[in-house]
Amino acid sequence: MNQSEAKAKIDTLRREIEEHNNRYYVLNRPLISDFEYDILLNELDTLEKKFPEFISDNSPTKRVGSDITKEFEQYEHIYPMLSLGNTYSEEELREFDNRLHKSISQPIEYVCESKFDGASISITYINGSLFRAVTRGDGNKGDDVTLNVKTIRSIPLKITSKRIPAEFVIRGEILMPRAVFNRLNEERIKAELTPFANPRNAAAGTLKLLDPRIVASRSLDCMIYFLLAEELPHDNHYDNLKEAAGWGFKVAESIRLCKNIDEVLQFISFWESERKKLPYDTDGVVVKVNSLSQQNELGFTAKSPRWAIAYKYKAEEATTRLLSVTFQVGRTGTVTPVANLEPVLLSGSTVKRATLHNEDQINLLDLHLNDMVYVEKGGEIIPKIVGVDHSERNENSKKIVFISNCPECGTALIKNEGEANHFCPNYLHCPPQIKGRIEHFISRKAMDIDGLGEETIDLLFNKNLIRNFADLYDLKMEQLVPLERLGEKSAANILKSIRTSIDTPYRRVLFALGIRHVGETVAKTIAWRFKTIDDLINAGIDQLTSVYEIGPKIAASIVSYFSDNDNLEMIERLKSVGIRFSEMSEPTLTGNLLKGKIIVISGVFKEHSREEYKELIEKNGGKNSTSVSGNTSFILAGDDMGQSKKEKADELGIPMISESEFLKIIDK
Ligand code: IVH
Repeated sequence: MNQSEAKAKIDTLRREIEEHNNRYYVLNRPLISDFEYDILLNELDTLEKKFPEFISDNSPTKRVGSDITKEFEQYEHIYPMLSLGNTYSEEELREFDNRLHKSISQPIEYVCESKFDGASISITYINGSLFRAVTRGDGNKGDDVTLNVKTIRSIPLKITSKRIPAEFVIRGEILMPRAVFNRLNEERIKAELTPFANPRNAAAGTLKLLDPRIVASRSLDCMIYFLLAEELPHDNHYDNLKEAAGWGFKVAESIRLCKNIDEVLQFISFWESERKKLPYDTDGVVVKVNSLSQQNELGFTAKSPRWAIAYKYKAEEATTRLLSVTFQVGRTGTVTPVANLEPVLLSGSTVKRATLHNEDQINLLDLHLNDMVYVEKGGEIIPKIVGVDHSERNENSKKIVFISNCPECGTALIKNEGEANHFCPNYLHCPPQIKGRIEHFISRKAMDIDGLGEETIDLLFNKNLIRNFADLYDLKMEQLVPLERLGEKSAANILKSIRTSIDTPYRRVLFALGIRHVGETVAKTIAWRFKTIDDLINAGIDQLTSVYEIGPKIAASIVSYFSDNDNLEMIERLKSVGIRFSEMSEPTLTGNLLKGKIIVISGVFKEHSREEYKELIEKNGGKNSTSVSGNTSFILAGDDMGQSKKEKADELGIPMISESEFLKIIDK
């Protein structure tokens, strides 16, 4: 066989094998036996070995996983991965429907899909080839797990259909079938390894393995639920998913188009019991507005789309005995009671602990030691106690009382008027508070300092090397290297990562400070309103509460934080190492200039990112939309704007505004 014959044969075999993969893994309708399939795969493998010039990352032979191991790199999502609002009742779902009808006058069609319980994944395809697969991560950026995802056979590596966008992102849920999960856990128990808690954890854990060969052996699957591209094939979600199914992706058969909310409720009640027969865990139903233009009209909140909602089935309950209650002190000093339980099986996993939230909750349950309690697993990882079986109570059992002193440092606990939680006021010296603050400071969404885990922080704290964030920037090689478990290489990495963190943007620095009640979103808001830390330090309660989203509680917490000299001193030290305490080159212009305007962004920009333009449009009262229609006010056109958008805009006579024109408009 000569080279060109080999190439032709390799191409044919790859196409054939992909076709069989699709029939087997996606359609569940194989045409050939496993044996025949293996023969084809072997033939391809032999040819690729003989003609290594034709080896390709996207060959089906690579599905079994290569031996390359690689730490995961991180990639930013082009379209952030948002979460969904949850509801648990028919009433809430009807409210959702009513809410949408208030903004939209035409009839609304909904698409119902099972809510699969696995690990979400975002996969980019370029010219039909699987380019990169990234985990959800923090929603903005995630881990590149491409090599692992390529071992999942229901995900096509190469799409042959002609009608695909040159570049698109497809999202879905990576799943481990329950049967595989059970088998895997049996093996793990035999090998004296900790079993996985549930199929979701097993799927997520598998996706993060460093050896794709092991991933390949775990029979993961992937259900697709979202297609994103500059230009989508259809103007509605349902047809887009069906189109993707035609390209070879696996879309759940349970998907249904509903004309109204009653049909949605029928779907939900049908699948409540039916879902138990599926090979995968599902925990609810996702309800999405079908029309993309209606979706655009509804838009997003900071966290989730307004056009979709997750209906969660009521969690299963189990009964078990309360053995003891321990009290944990968190990073902000909040004390949380935790119930230690006799292990019990609950929706597929063993439960040993449950959160009790606060004193009110304990009193409400009238909890006694050794009580038989009902536990329920909601959406959270930690289950909760929802009731007590009083008939089982022993007369002499002791009532659970909330502690009055910090279990870590002995300081008397405080409970503020109107707040549910107790907290330890020994902000400066209570060890878990100090360590917790530092852990928060270095976390991914804050200063993103790698290599410093909980254990290393413990170590540094115990050796008296760190007492606050500023101490991190004074750490020296010779202090780190002698510590147990820290070699020269990891010490160097830690120091490098600490140095790099100096460039963290101001809003994340503000979040990193760990001021009570100042989460990521509030930090963003205050960074935008108070351009430098000194503006913020000097702001009074009134000035703070005049900012939308900042109430008296947050304002008081900010003022109290900056009235503490230790905090101010630490900020001075952080400033002196170069940490950013002012907003730089961020688009911050605001106003109402774009009120009522619906704007489509298209093309590549020089001054700001697409996300920044989206933000700018919203901050100026406008709405961002992804598809051109009669409603579009204008197109913010960058370089290399999509051809079909251009044509549509011309056809409808929609004005196009360049980047510089746009900036001029809103600068006025
Ligand atoms: S749609 C903006 N559809 O649930 C649209 N999500 O709570 C966001 N999930 O992170 C997602 N099944 O991992 C969608 N049919 C489905 C889903 C689904 C499971 C997961 C997904 C997402 C989370 C949202």
